[in-house]
Amino acid sequence: MPAAALELLHVTRRFPPRDRHAQPFTAIERLNFQVAQGEFVALVGPSGCGKSTVLNLVAGLDRPTEGQVFVSGEEVAGANAHVGFMLQKDLLLPWRSIRRNVEFGLENRALSADERRARVARELTRCRLTDYADRYPHQLSGGQRQRAALARTLAIDPRVVLLDEPFSALDAQTKLLLQKSFAETIAASGVTTLLITHDLTEAVAMADRILVMSERPGRIVEELIIDLPHRDNPIARQALPRAREFIAHLFHALHLDDRIDA
Ligand SMILES: Nc1ncnc2c1ncn2[C@@H]1O[C@H](COP(=O)(O)OP(=O)(O)O)[C@@H](O)[C@H]1O
Ligand SMILES: [Mg+2]
Repeated sequence: MPAAALELLHVTRRFPPRDRHAQPFTAIERLNFQVAQGEFVALVGPSGCGKSTVLNLVAGLDRPTEGQVFVSGEEVAGANAHVGFMLQKDLLLPWRSIRRNVEFGLENRALSADERRARVARELTRCRLTDYADRYPHQLSGGQRQRAALARTLAIDPRVVLLDEPFSALDAQTKLLLQKSFAETIAASGVTTLLITHDLTEAVAMADRILVMSERPGRIVEELIIDLPHRDNPIARQALPRAREFIAHLFHALHLDDRIDA
């Protein structure tokens, strides 16, 4: 069997105590999961359960205290050039055009100028930004800027894309349109994707599989296979009666239905 695109094996991450009287602090504990090549997995769980910690470990920006992280069968040791990472904030460089922003991640790679231009053009087309290529980030809407950030992320041909709440700063309508646009782009590129979200509808609308994490220290407490059609159309998928059932189930699994505080 080929190696999983992504594997976490007994991963624990402890942070040092804040002062000498405090205990070390366990963010995630013996976390195990795999993501298959081309699969889209969503990670959901209460705030502070360690979701962003998981992404930092996969990106190689942080090291596990115990356990191992593998991307395409290779253990992650240090910042990983095969992993694309996209955050809620787009982090586009304001002094560069959209085209030059998309090109950014390719600049220190061994690519010919032609190959670099071809990759940038491919992603601008795929993210429907060709008409905006020569504009600057401040001339784009929030949704267009997130598409540009995705184009930049995909331009490096990552083996795994990590999305940390990429839609959470957007208004509801932009969010829906962008979810659809991301789903189309990701399906077209075939890239393995790990999405963090606290939007349960979004998780069901976009993912092939959902992993539910517990309160800190975070562990996987449930796995849901989302065997629904419309993988490339979250708007259509979330309207399905079975999607509503998955969402209600997740609501219950996260104990959101018996909480009265916010
Ligand atoms: N570098 C760090 N040093 C100390 N504590 C951290 C650090 N990074 C994260 N934490 C703590 O670990 C826990 C998990 O954080 P995080 O992964 O950001 O959670 P989530 O993304 O699920 O909301 C939080 O309580 C957070 O305060
Ligand atoms: Mg987080």
